[in-house]
Amino acid sequence: MELHLDGRAAPFIFMDELSSTNTVLKELSIQGAAEGTVLMASRQTGGRGRMDRSFLSPEGGVYLSMLLTPGCTPELSLSLTPCAAIAVRRSIEKLCGLKADIKWPNDLLINGKKVCGILCESLFFQGQQKLILGIGLNVSTPAEAFPGELGRIAGSILSLTGTAPPVEAMAAELISQLDGMYELWQAEPRRFLEEYRQGCVNIGRAISLIRDGQSRSARALGIDDNYALLVEYPDGERESVYMGEVSLRNE
Ligand code: BTN
Repeated sequence: MELHLDGRAAPFIFMDELSSTNTVLKELSIQGAAEGTVLMASRQTGGRGRMDRSFLSPEGGVYLSMLLTPGCTPELSLSLTPCAAIAVRRSIEKLCGLKADIKWPNDLLINGKKVCGILCESLFFQGQQKLILGIGLNVSTPAEAFPGELGRIAGSILSLTGTAPPVEAMAAELISQLDGMYELWQAEPRRFLEEYRQGCVNIGRAISLIRDGQSRSARALGIDDNYALLVEYPDGERESVYMGEVSLRNE
């Protein structure tokens, strides 16, 4: 695969197939890979998602992980994941001319179906926090690749809109957007808040909040200044939620 990553200083590693870009980059980071290293694959045999789920990764998607060492508090580094969703959203808008929706914390949806998931994993090595920011974006994956129940909730840019840019172009744009986002985020982490709020489809909706295997009904009131989801429970209690998963409920 040939990508045009003009002027990019950090290494870019491409493989046709591997288990999981997050898993392999984690190993490379322990062996001393440089900050900003991107590992990308055409296919993953063991793509991983949040909540210990698998992430289907056939040919036709962009599967990549970026190594970051932000050197901030672990709390602040949590805000990198929603900002990565903004980088993906901007890439889709630039190459496809459409605004994908964000489902808090970091799923990207087109026509209500998930086209992108983000898994940010953290490890501490020799006293330093390293983040492995993994992104899976379904670009030209055929609709048949999402059988049964999966097809009800997920798709690709091609299967949902009828057209998609080449995977190489999408990958190059995404890496450039991620580089740009990371630089801006380091100077001003809250810089993407308004854009994130505007793109987020959860706000004002009835939701089920899933945490530690437990589901709780709530209403999503907004996104607070730390990119956390501000929710209100039926008893009136309010909470800023930093981690978890939501499903939208119809009232
Ligand atoms: C999710 O939707 O739960 C997150 C999915 C993240 C998938 C990406 S694909 C590249 C990187 N490598 C992995 O194994 N997972 C992430």
